[in-house]
Amino acid sequence: MNKFYHIVTYGCQMNVHESEKIAGILSGMGYSSCEKIEDADIVVFNTCCIRENAENHAFGNIGMLKKLKKEKKNMLIAVGGCLPQQMHKAENLHEKFPYVDIIFGTHNLHNLKELIEKKLKSRKTVIEIDGGDGTVSEDDVPLRTSYPNAWVNIMYGCNNFCSYCIVPYVRGRERSRDSKKIIEEVQSLVNDGYKEITLLGQNVNSYKGDVTFPELLEKIAQIDGKFRVRFMTSHPKDFSRELVEVMASSPKICKCLHLPVQSGSDAVLKAMNRRYTTKEYLEKVAYLKDRIPDCTITTDLIVGFPGETEEDFNATLELVKKVGYSSAFTFVYSKREGTKAAEMPDQIPEEVSKERIIKLVDLVNSLTRAQSAQYKGKTIEILCEDYDEKRGLYCGRDEYGRMGYFSSDKNLIGQFVNLTVDEANGISLFGSIAG
Ligand code: SAH
Ligand code: SF4
Ligand code: F3S
Repeated sequence: MNKFYHIVTYGCQMNVHESEKIAGILSGMGYSSCEKIEDADIVVFNTCCIRENAENHAFGNIGMLKKLKKEKKNMLIAVGGCLPQQMHKAENLHEKFPYVDIIFGTHNLHNLKELIEKKLKSRKTVIEIDGGDGTVSEDDVPLRTSYPNAWVNIMYGCNNFCSYCIVPYVRGRERSRDSKKIIEEVQSLVNDGYKEITLLGQNVNSYKGDVTFPELLEKIAQIDGKFRVRFMTSHPKDFSRELVEVMASSPKICKCLHLPVQSGSDAVLKAMNRRYTTKEYLEKVAYLKDRIPDCTITTDLIVGFPGETEEDFNATLELVKKVGYSSAFTFVYSKREGTKAAEMPDQIPEEVSKERIIKLVDLVNSLTRAQSAQYKGKTIEILCEDYDEKRGLYCGRDEYGRMGYFSSDKNLIGQFVNLTVDEANGISLFGSIAG
């Protein structure tokens, strides 16, 4: 009899890729994927706890399964990822949703098959949350779902302990994969026809394999074939001139850099434990712009960090203008239990943070729009990634990260397409295939 799985993923690319590993394990056990949650024999929630709303989302959706589980007693529900990695949250999940069958942490993913088998033999909830012993598992074969893009982990964990951030607590200490394994994986993906490889790590610049990150990137860019390479995330404190030089040297490496600044105020950066000043950040950006003038830069920004004054916030607006980001992820600070910032005085009232985020989003959008408008009439090369059902158009990004939409009678997913841009709307570009 056919058995089906359904995975619900929250959070960052790391989690998206880990859901591919979960899918790999489940398909190895004979399960096939299904679109509708009601058809599933096992539902896996791969959760995130970076901000309170990410957590609430997961709690809400797990809660909604209560009724279905009553009707479909044999359906298994598993909750994994960053949220249950915090022991008190795992206990909280277990108490609130006793019908959840399996609860597992970020370090226990590779053990999911055994956890399912254990649950099938017992009535009790199976809970496994390890601290992580610093090893890197090479055994999980992902079932990739994002052709022509492929995610490749180069490292796991984080050592930075930015004062607001939960990641180091739920992902453990930094550990890097061996460069040979990474290169082999990229080579085989290119052989299989993947056209865009994104190297993943919480701080790729502190990759500590047998080579440095710029050296690794250079080796990957030397692999034959037409494909693109992206990487994220770069921590500004470790972002080096060597990396800029490698980016400049290879047409395979996208001229698009995600460099999260978080704040434009030195006092706030210090309290955040980011370990760079705005001057140092801007010097790195200036070097990058000098060596790769067409490089686009994107960032992450937080407003309402404890103690952030109106002056601090205005400094963020100024820095955003100075850098001229092509887009940015903007967040309201969310207090995370167990982090340093949660204990800081002067937590910012919600109304103030709301006002600030609206101003910041307006500014970022105006920069994005102005940059998009410059694309009108130009021809760009995009990698066709998907078909947008709603719009009835194919879509894909250029190397700078802009999304282009176009119509085509043929399925062009996985192909590079030259697009003449007719219209720009916010971050999206609309065009026609260049003749
Ligand atoms: N390792 C990456 C990003 C990890 S989390 C880096 O250092 O850049 C992604 C983004 O979420 C962060 O860059 C930050 O802007 C945001 N973030 C993390 N913790 C947060 C919190 N407690 N409240 C609001 N935003 C947060
Ligand atoms: Fe969090 Fe900072 Fe690590 Fe990024 S570098 S994951 S923001 S602690
Ligand atoms: Fe969320 Fe965990 Fe990623 S907390 S942002 S899924 S590392």
